[in-house]
Amino acid sequence: MSVFIFAGSKGGSARTVSSILLAAGLRELGFSPVHAQLVAEGMPPSLGRIDELPFAVSYTRSGDLKLVEAVLEASSHCGASHSHIILDNPALPIRKVLAYATDTRMRILLPMRDGLQEIGRVLHDVHEIQEEASVSDGLLPKVWLLPVGWPSSLKPKDYFDILSRRGLKREPLLALSIIHPGVPYLDPLDLEFRDDENRFTLTEQQQDAAIRLAEAVLRANGEAASIRTPDSWFTGLKSE
Ligand SMILES: Nc1ncnc2c1ncn2[C@@H]1O[C@H](COP(=O)(O)OP(=O)(O)OP(=O)(O)O)[C@@H](O)[C@H]1O
Ligand SMILES: [Mg+2]
Repeated sequence: MSVFIFAGSKGGSARTVSSILLAAGLRELGFSPVHAQLVAEGMPPSLGRIDELPFAVSYTRSGDLKLVEAVLEASSHCGASHSHIILDNPALPIRKVLAYATDTRMRILLPMRDGLQEIGRVLHDVHEIQEEASVSDGLLPKVWLLPVGWPSSLKPKDYFDILSRRGLKREPLLALSIIHPGVPYLDPLDLEFRDDENRFTLTEQQQDAAIRLAEAVLRANGEAASIRTPDSWFTGLKSE
């Protein structure tokens, strides 16, 4: 079981939205993910009041970052076997995340929205990870950049070019990949994922984005062979 950790030191970087899309997409593809959230002080859990969620959720306010262990323990107690754990963090210095991301099943996802400030912040986080890598003798988790809201024509090499021009150093120590395709630009006024009756719902565009994201993440994770066509596609065909 892999643990996908949405991280980053800048607020409002699309971690929560992307993590929910990934959970929904994995569910669409027939997996049984759990979406776990480390909730910042004074904030409600993002999925706390939404009904009919298609995947399991868990959250904690504990500041000690023991969430992954807690989720693993809770799932083994209730007999649930989750295919993937998706962990959504608030904005945190990347070193805090690295302090607990020591398991080889963990992958760090750094969402990167379009914009100079966003790129700068992601580069800052990557440099911090590279610094940790150079002084740590243990294995560091794989790091995946997740473009959010960038033109769909861009390929992984284009992102590396953009980042290199702004100072990215390709260190052999760090396994850095681009998740491609990333998450498309979605209507920012419609990212609550709930209908009038408070039930979890995705628009057609969000559902498509969720499935593409899940497929891209599974490919990056070496799980491409386990991807099957979502049932909803057949349902869609039948109803036409
Ligand atoms: N795919 C997207 N397309 C367009 N806008 C997006 C997308 N994803 C996120 N956003 C915008 O970014 C904002 C922040 O997203 P989100 O809450 O997921 O970020 P976050 O990193 O979890 O923030 P926080 O620091 O509050 O935890 C959203 O309110 C929305 O305006
Ligand atoms: Mg968030």
